[in-house]
Parts: sequence; structure tokens; C-alpha cells
Amino acid sequence: VWTTTNVVDEQVAAIREQVGSARAICGLSGGVDSAVAAALVQKAIGDQLTCVYVDHGLMRKGETEQVEKDFVAATGVQLKVVDASERFLKALAGVSDPEQKRKIIGREFIRVFEQAQAEIVAESGAAGEPVKFLVQGTLYPDIVESGGGTGTANIKSHHNVGGLPEDLEFELIEPLRQLFKDEVRAVGAELGLPDEIVQRQPFPGPGLGIRIVGEVTKERLDLLREADAIAREELTAAGLDREIWQCPVVLLADVRSVGVQGDGRSYGHPIVLRPVSSEDAMTADWTRMPYDVLARISTRITNEVSDVNRVVLDVTSKPPGTIEWE
Ligand code: XMP
Repeated sequence: VWTTTNVVDEQVAAIREQVGSARAICGLSGGVDSAVAAALVQKAIGDQLTCVYVDHGLMRKGETEQVEKDFVAATGVQLKVVDASERFLKALAGVSDPEQKRKIIGREFIRVFEQAQAEIVAESGAAGEPVKFLVQGTLYPDIVESGGGTGTANIKSHHNVGGLPEDLEFELIEPLRQLFKDEVRAVGAELGLPDEIVQRQPFPGPGLGIRIVGEVTKERLDLLREADAIAREELTAAGLDREIWQCPVVLLADVRSVGVQGDGRSYGHPIVLRPVSSEDAMTADWTRMPYDVLARISTRITNEVSDVNRVVLDVTSKPPGTIEWE
């Protein structure tokens, strides 16, 4: 029988058996999946787990603080924070192709992990067990969409499945690989994680890097972070967090359009709002959200975010559109 208690008990037993006395590390992305995977493994092996939070500079506003404070408070997990934003920006310089961006981000992510692993092993001293395992919050839909589950075509190389480099040194622990998102949330709640973490909207591993259509630069990231924060704030204020599965906010960095702002002509970038309703992200419909909320978001973004003079709404279902633009 499928109950969250059974899932937790089974996974805890399986993880203990798989890991033995070795150590594991887990990357926290700030998202629900990695948080629940980490909490599950923490329950199974306690201090044998160290979580690593790679700040790749592609996070949304406030996300780093949420991981550093809320998650640690809820689980008591050991956390190492690595600020790698410079490195990611350098690796992404000049790259506009979506698949290439995903591969670069996935590759750098693992490299930073290997470095963190070496440091954790060194810190755990001569008596420490080696770090042999990497925990990943891969869900069932991730596997299916990467062509690993049911033989469907490879749509995008999700960085926690298809984008792993060949020289991976870890064995994977993927305790959520049979679950859908709503089940993951139920497991998270069962594990005592707070609502702010468990009810969070999905956010892709490659972060804002795949929500900038065009090259990723520091300036563009800062701009998108502001626009995204405004949209999230207004959606939450309007009580739409549960109705909307997620709302990617996308910067069309290579597009400019003419506008009029203040006394003069502007020539700025469009921001796309992509609110979708979905059960599991495999299919989705665009959310018919209230016009007054859209109006508030549009007014605030064009007023408060410099270099943005237009806000547009994506009214495409999945299929044919994917949820993310890249
Ligand atoms: P798409 O764009 O394929 O997205 O319709 C489906 C769901 O997956 C999320 N997504 C990702 N999640 N790593 C992740 O962990 C990724 O590389 C990635 N790409 C897309 C997306 O936000 C949506 O919820």
C-alpha cells in the first residue's frame, strides 16, 4: 500500500543498506526535490551526510538565505556553502544555446561538488569514511523526459539525469525516483519540513541560466532576479501559489522593442510570464489568472526594473510548449 509513512520507512531502510558506514553528500538547490531527498537521507544516516549548497549565481532572490536558514533549522543537517558564481559566469560567457548552457551548468556543478567532496573528506580527518555517494532529488518525470524511463524521446537533458559528465566519481542515491511531485511534497511534510519548503514551486537545477534567452551575464541575471521577485511577490499576495504550478519569468535578452517611458522613447527588453497549471509537469495548461494580478505585475516590473519596457504573457500549453523556454 502506498502511504507516505511506508515510503519513508522503505527508503530509510534501503538507504542505510546502500550506504553502510560510508559518507554521502547531497547538493541542495533550494528546491523541494533536493530538500526532501536530503531530509530523507539525513533521517537514514544522520551525520554521515553533508549537504553542499552550490551558489551558482543563478538562484532567485532570497533563495540562498532560505537554504542557509530555514532548511538547516528544520533538519539540523550539516551544510557547506560554496560560492561559485564567478566560475559559472565565466563558463557560460558567450554561450546562448540552451542545451549547451544546460551541459555547462551540469558539468560545473559536478566539478564544484568534487572539490567540495575532497574538502569534506579532508575535514573529516584520517579516521573519516570516504564520501562515496551523491544524493540526487531525481523524480519519476525527470527520468521519463530524459528518455530513461519509458523510451520516450529525449526532450531536454535535465541536468540531474542526462547532463552528468562521464567522469562522475560518485554512486547515486536517488530516493525519489519513483515519485511524482505531489508525493514528494507529502513525503516532505511527513519528514517535518516546513510549508515554505515543501510547497515551493518547482525551480529547475540550471536556475535562471535557462530563463535568459540569450547569453547569461551578471547584469541580465540581476535584472531577471528583480522581475522574478516582483512576480512571485504579487502571485503570493493574490493567493495564487497553490493554483499555479509554477510561473517561470523569462528574459528575452536578445530582443528589444520600442516603448515610451517618462518623457522619452525607450528601447528595452521584454519579460515573459509563463504561469502554468499542472499535475506533474509532464503536461501543463497556461493558467487563466486574474487580469488585475497580471496588470499589477506588469506595472511593477516595467516601473521597477530598468531596461524592461514590456511584459508579455505566454498562452501556450504543454505540449506543444515546454514549461521552461529552454
Ligand atoms: P519542461 O520545461 O521540460 O519542464 O516542461 C518540466 C519541469 O521540469 C523543470 N525543469 C528542470 N528541473 N533540472 C530540474 O531539476 C532541470 O534541468 C530542469 N529543466 C526543467 C521545469 O521547471 C518544470 O517544472
